[in-house]
Amino acid sequence: MEIKKVVVIGSGTMGSGIAAHLCNANIPVTLLDLKTEISEQARDRIYKSKPPLLLDKSKINNIKVGNIVDNFDEVKEADWVVEAVVERIDIKHDIYKKIFKERKKGAIVSSNTSSIPIKVLSEHLSEEEKKDFCITHFFNPVRYMGLLEIVKSENNDLKKIDSLKKFCETELGKGAIVCNDTPGFLGNRVGVYAMQIAMTEAFKMKLSVEEADAIFGRPMGIPKTGIFGLYDLIGIDLMGDVLKSFIKELPKTDKFHEVAKEIPLVKKLIETGYTGRKGKGGFYRVNKTDGKKIMEAINLETGDYSSSKKINIKTEKVDLKSLINRDDKYGKYAWSVISKIIKYSSSLVPGITKEFNDIDEAMRLGFNWAKGPFEMLEEIGVNNFFDKIDEYKNNDFLEILAQSKNEEFYGERQKYTKIETLGKAKKKAISVDGNSSAQIYRFKDYNIVEFSTKANALDYNSMDALKKATDKPLIIINESMQFSAGVNLSYTMEFANKGDFKSIEKFIRYFQETCKHLKYSDYPVISAPSGLTLGGGFEVMVQSNFVASHTNIVVGLVETIVGLIPAGGGCKEMLARWLNTEEAKQDPHYASLKVFDIIGFGKTATSPVEAIPMKYLKPEDKKIMNRNSLLEVSKKILEDNRDFKAPAETKFNLAGNVVKEKMIKVLDKLYDDKVILDHGMEVGKELANVLSGGDTTINKILSEEDLFKLELEAFMRLIETKETQDRIKHTLATGKPLIN
Ligand code: NAI
Repeated sequence: MEIKKVVVIGSGTMGSGIAAHLCNANIPVTLLDLKTEISEQARDRIYKSKPPLLLDKSKINNIKVGNIVDNFDEVKEADWVVEAVVERIDIKHDIYKKIFKERKKGAIVSSNTSSIPIKVLSEHLSEEEKKDFCITHFFNPVRYMGLLEIVKSENNDLKKIDSLKKFCETELGKGAIVCNDTPGFLGNRVGVYAMQIAMTEAFKMKLSVEEADAIFGRPMGIPKTGIFGLYDLIGIDLMGDVLKSFIKELPKTDKFHEVAKEIPLVKKLIETGYTGRKGKGGFYRVNKTDGKKIMEAINLETGDYSSSKKINIKTEKVDLKSLINRDDKYGKYAWSVISKIIKYSSSLVPGITKEFNDIDEAMRLGFNWAKGPFEMLEEIGVNNFFDKIDEYKNNDFLEILAQSKNEEFYGERQKYTKIETLGKAKKKAISVDGNSSAQIYRFKDYNIVEFSTKANALDYNSMDALKKATDKPLIIINESMQFSAGVNLSYTMEFANKGDFKSIEKFIRYFQETCKHLKYSDYPVISAPSGLTLGGGFEVMVQSNFVASHTNIVVGLVETIVGLIPAGGGCKEMLARWLNTEEAKQDPHYASLKVFDIIGFGKTATSPVEAIPMKYLKPEDKKIMNRNSLLEVSKKILEDNRDFKAPAETKFNLAGNVVKEKMIKVLDKLYDDKVILDHGMEVGKELANVLSGGDTTINKILSEEDLFKLELEAFMRLIETKETQDRIKHTLATGKPLIN
């Protein structure tokens, strides 16, 4: 069965997200709501969404809109009709009646419900209709969340479910997990339990909101919003509704009930409009005192707010074993939460799925956890876990494991997909080495380097691993969210604080040397970026010989924002790309000015479609919807390039002072308009010096080394200034730029 046209009914948060993503996949889609104005407004929201739901905003009109009275005929031509109307069974039943009357014979009809069982949704359908009806549970925001749960019933035509799964995998790039019709399916059942246990244990163990968020966050491989921050983000009232639905659907014996009891403080927050970020605030709130915005956190015992404290638990890396064994309240909290999540998840096998691995994948793709509960168990170690755990009565999974004590219980990964993912491949490596910043996985014909620091920020060790791994074709790829957010600024600032600029210079030189080596080594180097690919991360990518990019990337050179300029070859490569255009052949100033505009403003692209016109990506770079496929595509590139020869070195003809003056004029105007201040001017001048080629003229040939030298000198002059250091410190502390 081929899906060539889709109709989405209900244009709210989810319907519009689904329609936008179908548009991303170039599938004709019509979005219907009660009134055309509602779906038109939805299209408007899609256009303005941040982060953008569309890969290419110019395609917005490919989403047709209409209403369910005048435009219902659209359903007749659809191969798939997705219902995403409000979570009300009477409304959903009415819509199905209409859809099944009009739909093309054999067309798939699915609901995006998050909580209504398929047997209830389909109770008025005929046997024939039930064959083609299922739940497709997307996560918000649809473009960015990897998980799609496809819930089937015993009536389904399994071939059809399979082809829907394949379509959602290849065309929409989703991790499509087929699951049983149980409340909350996989992701929400475990995810909401985990949130509740993290919250109730914090109350019980008298942790502050900030302390709980500091543990149930990065140290556990969970997004840094933590638990209370996440409640504020989702909406405390909405979570209340979700809990009510679980309480209604789950049998009384389910352990979920223990963590779903109403908490008086939470009730009070909802009643007084403290529903989270969308309301007056929640567990956190922003308070304005003397015109200054102050972040405050609630005291879980008294309900009073006071200014939020930064908690430093002094761990940079996810290390569950150390975390749960800490002899302090943080260690006790971590163990209590993790062990209960493991106990609950394992008690659900095989009831909600026979593959425990699917639960891990659902948590990874739907909640952005680095590891699911069973992988956490694996990391803690089976013997360690059973040494520490108190009881696990009536939990078949744990009882069996307690007998075997098999540390290797996990077996295969990512079973839900046939794709050879990085997660699967890593397990088959012949050998693994590396250092604290990156792992090297060695295979017969190629190596993989996976960065492993926070946001994959780069340091000397990251470069070391890259260099070491070029003794074979190399693929730079990673499982965590970001390819690399750039050079590790904390690491750089540690040297700067000590006045040790020699070490910074040594690092930047090594960065340059390594990137040059990547570009010119005898074996091809492929970067497979997804997520943040910024600054130094971009420089690694751009000096690789081939790129296989995920469609969800944020790519660009953002160094100027922290008062620096790209010094790992970023200026050089962008110049090379822009010099290679027809316009540059006509106008010797064109390339320098273009790159000055892009790097000067720290412009980023949020998809390959946006990245190509800026030349952050090349048209021939591969763009891939399904992140799971990045490794397969990279390996295919290797296969297709067995006779690879390193490229010839680039030569540069740049106009020197003449074009530099033009750039300074641009800076003067920005300064007069107060877009930039004094230090902005200094950074701009340094950038102008590099991009104009320094002390040169158009007929003089500059080498890549010359450009590296210019980059390094400018970088060093800037990092030594107090103003650049102020910018870096400010950004590290607040995540925001400092304009000085
Ligand atoms: P929403 O409230 O944002 O949008 C619902 C839309 O349905 C509205 O535009 C409304 O005008 C429209 N609608 C109502 N009755 C209709 C009818 N008879 N015909 C056509 N349109 C009608 O809701 P949201 O959040 O998009 O949720 C939609 C579905 O997705 C629900 O079943 C919900 O449980 C589920 N869901 C929601 C998630 C979320 O994060 N918001 C996540 C996953 C699933």
